[in-house]
Amino acid sequence: NRLRHVDSMASLPSGAGSIRELNAVILGESLASEENHLVFPSDDFSRQALISSPQQYLEMYKRSIEDPSGFWSDIASNFYWKKKWDQNLIYSENLDVTKGDVSIQWFKGGITNICYNCLDANIESGNGDKIALYWQGNEPHVDGSLTYTQLLHRVCQLANFLKDNGVQKGDTVIIYLPMIMELPITMLACARIGAVHSVVFAGYSAESLHQRVMDCKPKIMITCNAVMRGKKTIDLKNIVDAALLESSQNGITVGLCLTFENESAMKKEATKWEKGRDIWWQDVVPKCSTICDVEWVDAEDPLFLLYTSGSTGKPKGVLHTTGGYMIYTATTFKYAFDYKDSDIYWCTADCGWITGHSYVTYGPLLNGATVVLYEGVPNYPDSGRCWEIVDKYKVTIFYTAPTLYVTRYSRKSLRILGSVGEPINPSAWRWFFNVVGDSRCPISDTWWQTETGGFMITPLPGAWPQKPGSATFPFFGVQPVIVDEKGNEIDGECSGYLCVKSSWPGAFRTLYGDHERYETTYFKAFPGYYFSGDGCSRDKDGYHWLTGRVDDVINVSGHRIGTAEVESALVSHPQCAEAAVVGVEHEVKGQGIYAFITLVEGVPYSEDLRKSLVLVVRSQIGAFAAPDKIHWAPSLPKTRSGKIMRRILRKIASRQLEELGDTSTLADPGVVDQLIALADS
Ligand code: PRX
Repeated sequence: NRLRHVDSMASLPSGAGSIRELNAVILGESLASEENHLVFPSDDFSRQALISSPQQYLEMYKRSIEDPSGFWSDIASNFYWKKKWDQNLIYSENLDVTKGDVSIQWFKGGITNICYNCLDANIESGNGDKIALYWQGNEPHVDGSLTYTQLLHRVCQLANFLKDNGVQKGDTVIIYLPMIMELPITMLACARIGAVHSVVFAGYSAESLHQRVMDCKPKIMITCNAVMRGKKTIDLKNIVDAALLESSQNGITVGLCLTFENESAMKKEATKWEKGRDIWWQDVVPKCSTICDVEWVDAEDPLFLLYTSGSTGKPKGVLHTTGGYMIYTATTFKYAFDYKDSDIYWCTADCGWITGHSYVTYGPLLNGATVVLYEGVPNYPDSGRCWEIVDKYKVTIFYTAPTLYVTRYSRKSLRILGSVGEPINPSAWRWFFNVVGDSRCPISDTWWQTETGGFMITPLPGAWPQKPGSATFPFFGVQPVIVDEKGNEIDGECSGYLCVKSSWPGAFRTLYGDHERYETTYFKAFPGYYFSGDGCSRDKDGYHWLTGRVDDVINVSGHRIGTAEVESALVSHPQCAEAAVVGVEHEVKGQGIYAFITLVEGVPYSEDLRKSLVLVVRSQIGAFAAPDKIHWAPSLPKTRSGKIMRRILRKIASRQLEELGDTSTLADPGVVDQLIALADS
């Protein structure tokens, strides 16, 4: 029963054989239904792949479920441990709230350090002169690179500075940096000394940054003065100043703000400065020693906090620990991208999101990979920028969100494409496959979340045929189940709520400072399972198809935004009385933000007011959360007990007016007609 998908998969044809003929059928003719479109890896690809047939996967998958200790300890033995974990206790877990506190532990008692495994271990095995990071600046002619040895030296210098300034094991450091090399350097420096990093995406507003400061009370803030995004200069230091001022007025004072001078964006002289608190990175860090001893930590010691949106207003501090996360990100990276030493890897995600933690920084560096970092935006100076970067660095593995453009570049170097963050529809999949990958590169459509640490359902590119738009099968050790509203597992072809039975090494361990919210959000709805918040269906061959969030979370260009966060920003506007936000389909962004707003009595709706409502969201959360549409609602559809009926609002927002359903339970059914009448005004 636990290996259900595996049974159905066993009937699939294996990687090689009649593949070429099948390929022709698949790519040329259209078959009866979308689900039957199998796209096979080429014979050549499969032959060289780490996992090259369904059978090989099945064997490994079976072992990972039936003997997790054996499976994961074999893998973990390839990493450096100062002291090995207790063999009998490779993991312990309770996912069932009805049986006590939810807890997950992996490799407990094992002593290690993830920075050591990323850098020192690779250098010791002879890779010191290999390029670890290629950095591409916003302007095409601005770039740089660091070998593994150079990266280690930079990391050690900062680690020494942090230690000299009182940062100790367990202390929190907030990092508010754009995609410059100092961002992964800072993450690794924290990890080296056992400090807990919390990267805040440098597109978040001062208000959001302040909230995070209040929650995790960092010992130090690390930022830079400014960044160029396309032609725009963004003064990051001003944002940090405002956040720290507000925090100190609320009782949390951060005594040190280490600021990198990002010279190409803004000169030192133009940067506002608070004497006594602010220090220029370039004045102090390069003077520190390039040797820094590692702080050895327990596998279950925290590595980082990363805030993400939930269905209520307050951001959640997702906490990941060291050992399990290390093994899991390294292993998922290796297999899902069929990683080879000769690969050049580029992931377009920002380190401010989980993808940048697991698959820009830790996963690739643990494998000794060469990683490309890009500071800018995909369409500057023009929409061919990504492909120009691919060609410049001869990128072989390209991992991105399904929202990009293609033009004149050759892209010959590409070998594998990855996709993440939102459901990719079959036609986008085909475009990515046929146009970007020249029908040559398998696509790894990876489903996972901030909470899961690493890939959960993902193609292993040489192992089995793909279906455009399906994330396919679970990674080793992952047992996805689909449940109905009552929490019953459903078999075979079905759709429902996507849960996971049993823990996996990369799982998050708690929400920082709020274990109760952790249990309520993820483990209460379906006791015994981790509930992802996503809907999913499984077809007759066992392929998984993600259908999007089933809670009040919107996914805009792969960025997760809680409707409640946007609503609370809107109602902070003095003229906004009430707001209800829903997600709507958006051609480019996947989902767009659609806000219904009721104004304070007597205030007329106007274009200026619309602009200032959008502005309030930009300044409270960040530009990426700005509503795409403001819909003036003299009143909102509510039940007699006063609950806003979002189901109806979603239908109005997407103009599916014939599907409004039963409106008779509304306190005032007339509201609906009024809203429809105002829809395009
Ligand atoms: O709804 C799913 C969607 O992104 C959510 C997780 O967002 P976040 O924690 O910000 O992490 C994004 C990067 C992992 C999920 O709950 N999602 C992620 N990957 C996919 C996806 N939806 C469909 N297909 C995917 N491959």
